[in-house]
Amino acid sequence: MAEMNPVWFDRVRRAQQLAAARLGVDESEMLPPRDGSTAEAGEPAPSNETATPQPEPPAVAAEAPRPSPQPEPAAVAEAAPVTAAEVTPSEEASAEDAPATIEAQTPTAVQTNGSAAAANRVAPVGRAAVLESFETGHEGINRREFVSYAWSGALGLLTLESGLATYQFMYPRFREGEFGGKFPLGEATALPQIGIDPEGNATGKYWLINTDEGPRALYMVCTHLGCLYKWSPSNNRFQCPCHASQFSREGHYIRGPASRSLDQFVIEIVEDGEVVAQTEDAGDTISAPGTSAIGAEIVVNTGKRIRGKPAAASPARSDVRAE
Ligand code: FES
Repeated sequence: MAEMNPVWFDRVRRAQQLAAARLGVDESEMLPPRDGSTAEAGEPAPSNETATPQPEPPAVAAEAPRPSPQPEPAAVAEAAPVTAAEVTPSEEASAEDAPATIEAQTPTAVQTNGSAAAANRVAPVGRAAVLESFETGHEGINRREFVSYAWSGALGLLTLESGLATYQFMYPRFREGEFGGKFPLGEATALPQIGIDPEGNATGKYWLINTDEGPRALYMVCTHLGCLYKWSPSNNRFQCPCHASQFSREGHYIRGPASRSLDQFVIEIVEDGEVVAQTEDAGDTISAPGTSAIGAEIVVNTGKRIRGKPAAASPARSDVRAE
């Protein structure tokens, strides 16, 4: 047989004692609680009254009807409600197995447990909170407010991106060594010798020459319709393969359909981190930065381009007319 819980055994015993007192019968005449384990193993019962079950004579049973053993749990709960002070740690451990404990819970206790559960409830966040607010309509924001906020956020983001794109268009940022940025060439000794053929830089899209006035960086695109002109060593000039416009080694217009001389990038002479000289727009001509001091750094700034001067003002054109 299954072993009876000791706590449960004591409660049944107390209920029997109270019932015997009410009925005015001897407690010894009542049946002991069913504890198969103690009966079979021969162990001593919790009390002397239950240690030796005594068979009841029929006459005694007729005079004093025994209480029904079925409603024992209810009787315990009604006759002797267990208080918190009476509950020992061992009782708490077995409280889950005792149906009397569940029956002893009052509505107030249930409400208290419900309030505690509500207090322990974790408030939803993020999308869950929004969905809950949609369902309840009392907490957070409702659907109309959410759509309004979403549209406002989208418009704000669009405005921000448009402003950023405009700023980047107006003030582009280029890394060093890429077209639109700066190309450090080193000291003046790194420049080509005066009088030799120009050196092309495909990445920077410029021809680099060195003259008595200083270095020049000529934009590789023809000022007529945008073809890429080439250096012709045999003619000692630049020639465009598209419509045969020609330019001198300094970029001045010589002949052809082009309406102006070649555009030039600004060359900066940098000493101790400061620009001490650079290519300048001098009205009818473009002046070179001059010869640089020893130790100065030469930088081609492809982010600054000076438009070529009109063909009519080109000194090279005068030379062509003299031929
Ligand atoms: Fe160079 Fe026409 S594009 S001459």
